[in-house]
Amino acid sequence: MSINLQTLCQEICSLSKEVGVFIKNEGEKFSLGKVEVKGKNDFVSYVDKTSEKRLVEKLAELLPEAGFIAEEGTSTKKGDVYNWIIDPLDGTTNFIHGIPCFAISIGLMRNQELVMGVIYEINLDECFYAWEGSKAYLNGKEINVTKTAKLADSLLATGFPYYDYNRIDEYMELFKYFMKNTHGLRRLGSAATDLAYVACGRFEGFYEYSLQPWDVAAGAFIVQQAGGKVTDFKGEGNYIFGKEIVAGNTAFFDEFLDVVKKHFS
Ligand code: IPD
Ligand code: CA
Ligand code: CA
Repeated sequence: MSINLQTLCQEICSLSKEVGVFIKNEGEKFSLGKVEVKGKNDFVSYVDKTSEKRLVEKLAELLPEAGFIAEEGTSTKKGDVYNWIIDPLDGTTNFIHGIPCFAISIGLMRNQELVMGVIYEINLDECFYAWEGSKAYLNGKEINVTKTAKLADSLLATGFPYYDYNRIDEYMELFKYFMKNTHGLRRLGSAATDLAYVACGRFEGFYEYSLQPWDVAAGAFIVQQAGGKVTDFKGEGNYIFGKEIVAGNTAFFDEFLDVVKKHFS
């Protein structure tokens, strides 16, 4: 059976909005006492888990043959061809502290290729999406990466190391370099939102290490469909499972990546 990715993508946007309403409502009555600790600075609550359960149930109805790579482990079914990569709440630390920047991130892989991405940033009601062969969209309007050609004119996003400090010295040197040689850096606290903002031209670029596939799959795909580039720190293709990502507009990407490479080589 051939799958209509465009129709499926619209359904995933509706599903994300529906689950987003649940997350937003729970956020209004949430207290720190409801937080569970998974690891150092790694938090979760019934909100992440319930959202993932709802997403997995509905996605299994929409594409029964697909498997899952889902952060909270609701389903570990592996699909022969299709696999969903899900973060039911990206930006949990923001969520538990009441900071309004968090998102649902859903990517779809066919074999080893991404073929769809949906990121729903709940607080601004912004749905970013793309499917194989499409442009990238934000709430129905086409989006593109910027054409800014120089690192010196760029605004960057990153995520700070918060549990894996193995490369913190290289990270801090790189951070210093970018502080001195760009318009500045932002740390939103949701990697999916960072990538969505690269896709729609709010940031020129984004980089972070120790991310998981569910943090980056949908966003990396949307950036590419919006005309941008995505690699790992070596400039190669292992950015979904390789725990390092550089994403940015095509015009400044080589200069941006060169600086990252030099600091992490
Ligand atoms: C986190 C966010 C954050 C990034 C972390 C992720 P979570 O995801 O994307 O921006 O810096 O590395 O783990 O835990 O909120 O889903
Ligand atoms: Ca995440
Ligand atoms: Ca999460």
